[in-house]
Amino acid sequence: MRLQDGTLWPIPICLDILETIARKLEVGQSVGLRDPEGFLLAILHIEDIWPVDHNKESIQVYGTDDTDHPGVHYLFHATGNYYVGGAVEVLSPPLHPDFKQIRWTPEEIRLNYNKLGWKRVLGFITRNPIHRAQFEMILRAMREAKANLLLLPIAGATKPEDFDHYTRVRCYNEVAHHYPPGSYLLNLLPLAVRMAGPRTALMHAIIAKNYGCTHIIIGRDHAGPGLNSQGKPFYATDAAQTLVQSHSKEIDITIIPFAEMIYLPFEDEYRFVDQVTPGTQAISLSGTEIRGRVRNWCQVPECASFPEVIHVLLKAYPPPRKQGVTVFFTGLSGAGKSTIAKVLFSRFLEIGDRPVTLLDGDIVRRNLSNELTFSKEHRDINARRIGFVASEITKNRGIAICVPIAPYAATRREIRKTIEAYAGFIEVHVFTSLDVCESRDRKGMYAKARAGLIKGFTGVDDPYEVPECPEVVIDTIHFTPDEAAQEVLLVMGQRGYI
Ligand code: PPS
Repeated sequence: MRLQDGTLWPIPICLDILETIARKLEVGQSVGLRDPEGFLLAILHIEDIWPVDHNKESIQVYGTDDTDHPGVHYLFHATGNYYVGGAVEVLSPPLHPDFKQIRWTPEEIRLNYNKLGWKRVLGFITRNPIHRAQFEMILRAMREAKANLLLLPIAGATKPEDFDHYTRVRCYNEVAHHYPPGSYLLNLLPLAVRMAGPRTALMHAIIAKNYGCTHIIIGRDHAGPGLNSQGKPFYATDAAQTLVQSHSKEIDITIIPFAEMIYLPFEDEYRFVDQVTPGTQAISLSGTEIRGRVRNWCQVPECASFPEVIHVLLKAYPPPRKQGVTVFFTGLSGAGKSTIAKVLFSRFLEIGDRPVTLLDGDIVRRNLSNELTFSKEHRDINARRIGFVASEITKNRGIAICVPIAPYAATRREIRKTIEAYAGFIEVHVFTSLDVCESRDRKGMYAKARAGLIKGFTGVDDPYEVPECPEVVIDTIHFTPDEAAQEVLLVMGQRGYI
């Protein structure tokens, strides 16, 4: 909770490195710190290199070693084994190409208050859109504190299911005009939410103080990640508020606890939950429930969120019919993948509601992977390249039809995971037995493989791992290519993609 000089500091922020790099470094050396593009940001003069104690850090910071906690999961699975520390000589702050107009430093923000004549400022740090309940709460907090508002949305790693900050900023801009004129500033906070509940809340209070806030709203279960692997909350509901309250004097900031607000339909107003007589009819939709509704394209009542906010969210997360989708064919050589894929390609062109790209095995091998062989390593590279192109197409709401053999299950799983983060993935196993493929042998490849002229031929002397749960299985003995394409379209229709 404290630095060695006694400064209150609830979460260590350390630079983790891999053991292989740690072994090459020595105390006294200086190293360049670069961003992912290689741009030099700073020089670190190394004073310390020490092994990460994952268990100790996880218990001390997160109060748990349950890897269902996203912060703990990150610590155990994405953090290197060593930390490196020392004086940092800054050459240039990190570059953020997006939303430059709302990326002020704390110092710049404080100067702005002077210009605006703001003496009392209420900070609100959030990773969620602002719906009606939050809006009403913030407004009341502003009145109680007689303060203007500094909204600090987190633009860094948040929980995977959260709305991205581009979408959220569009939402905040929609809510902005509901606040009293001139009482509101918006500034992005480049911070990773570690979801450490009380300690994160304390960190937020310190950050808000740095941005010149005199008051800060601390929520119930502030930065809590929900339930642990036993189905119990990671942190007690009021733990965050209690911890921050106990340090508020030292930080010199006033805490405004975020009380739950509910909507009373007959009165047509929001009230604090403890001011409502039990049994009164009320509506209360949490941010998580609203997110669930948006993701499932269910109505969100106007009393729960501003229609313009819901409009922005629905635009960012359209229904399957408007999302991109990848149709990933897999099967043995000669199974009939390409023939079916070509028919399907024409059907999508006929429907004409989304751009469609056919990434046939031959086309890919010629244009993307012509230096690759058929070794396991190269087949995986080939499949990943196809997956990458398909994910870009899908992200941009197009249809990608991929047609490799893709014989290895783990690589197909990996591709599915990447693409499903954006939109639809339909795996089509063209299930034609080896005997049939071999008897067709249109390209004479099986004969060559059997004669030993081709090594590592799928199905002959290299494995084909059958998909575990493909969305569609097609047996080309019983289906014509037209019928097979129709089958794929049917499944896509059932899932709402067409
Ligand atoms: S993979 O495994 O996904 O990288 O394969 P892919 O890029 O789809 O290429 C498959 C076509 O390449 C021909 N070919 C081979 N297939 C399997 N194993 C080996 N060793 C091999 N060498 C060449 C084969 O004719 C495949 O054609 P299709 O169109 O699938 O019949």
